[in-house]
Amino acid sequence: MYFPSILAVGGFLATVASAASLTQVSNYGNNATSKAQMWVYKPDNVVANSPLVVVIHSCQSTAQSYFQNNLIPWKQGSDKKGYITVWPSSPNSGTCWDVSSRQSLSHLGGGDSQAIANMILYAIKTYDVDPKRVYVTGGSSGAMMSNVLAATYPELISAVSLYSGVAAGCFVSASGGVDQWNNSCSGGQSRAPADQWKKVVLDMYPGYTGPRPKMQIWHGSADGTLAPQNYEEEIKQWTAVFNLSQTPTSTVQNFPKQGYKTSNYGDSVQGIYAQGVGHSVPANLTASEIWFGL
Ligand SMILES: *[C@@H]1O[C@H](CO)[C@@H](O)[C@H](O)[C@H]1NC(C)=O
Ligand SMILES: *[C@@H]1O[C@H](CO)[C@@H](O)[C@H](O)[C@H]1NC(C)=O
Ligand SMILES: *[C@@H]1O[C@H](CO)[C@@H](O)[C@H](O)[C@H]1NC(C)=O
Ligand SMILES: *[C@@H]1O[C@H](CO)[C@@H](O)[C@H](O)[C@H]1NC(C)=O
Repeated sequence: MYFPSILAVGGFLATVASAASLTQVSNYGNNATSKAQMWVYKPDNVVANSPLVVVIHSCQSTAQSYFQNNLIPWKQGSDKKGYITVWPSSPNSGTCWDVSSRQSLSHLGGGDSQAIANMILYAIKTYDVDPKRVYVTGGSSGAMMSNVLAATYPELISAVSLYSGVAAGCFVSASGGVDQWNNSCSGGQSRAPADQWKKVVLDMYPGYTGPRPKMQIWHGSADGTLAPQNYEEEIKQWTAVFNLSQTPTSTVQNFPKQGYKTSNYGDSVQGIYAQGVGHSVPANLTASEIWFGL
């Protein structure tokens, strides 16, 4: 009897230690047309007035599979530091995010971007989240959506760290289609002067004059899905939005990793170009957390 009771105690402790799990929030007060799903992870050791990190999956993924993916480090970050993470799940077939329609590319336009904004508002209201510490990250299609959210809901977000995306508005569909692939953009042929990319952002939320999230942009030089030229277009876009020069204020070679190059544009824009790395650049939890101030 002695041996089994020890096992029972051990089993009980193990259950308590792993109580937190990814949970769907079916009613998050979504008033967008988009039916994106909201999932949340609240670690056992959640801190008071918690920061919030919104983690946006890539195509062919979901909130649940992204959460379980060992290469996506945000569950570990959440467990270690006690912050809450929200994991949106795409409603579109193939599960890419809609970064092409007018609805998603405008503030309160009703698309996927508004659904995610509603998730942020719900989390702030419901979980004692600090509204001044809301962060967004994502890879590939999730990185494209991160750029779109920075443009459409700048008032909600303090900082963005995105891996292998395209400039906000680059995937626009000329015919207004929802969730359309754009070969010109993915292939790196959608190029524009900095001022024009800036206008694309300003036009997504006309009249907005408040603060904007600072942008950390990662891209691989061997990206065969979203051409490396998209890195240049993103840097042009966000430096222009912040009224910064396209010449870095400092660069650091071989940081944060051998072959990577970090370019700083003041405090608001940072580019990290990964030599020889394809699609997508693996997320670096430490570097993104530092950018967020976590
Ligand atoms: C949807 O919710 C947002 C955020 O609360 C609000 O600003 C907006 O007016 C609402 N829009 C509609 C159409 O209800
Ligand atoms: C693709 O996006 C570019 C802007 O990046 C736009 O000019 C073009 O019309 C789009 N292509 C289609 C087929 O909608
Ligand atoms: C950039 O400059 C314009 C014009 O002076 C100003 O309205 C805007 O707030 C500035 N943008 C940022 C992000 O500081
Ligand atoms: C992640 O970035 C940090 C610096 O922020 C660096 O020390 C670390 O080595 C990087 N990790 C990897 C795997 O590149």
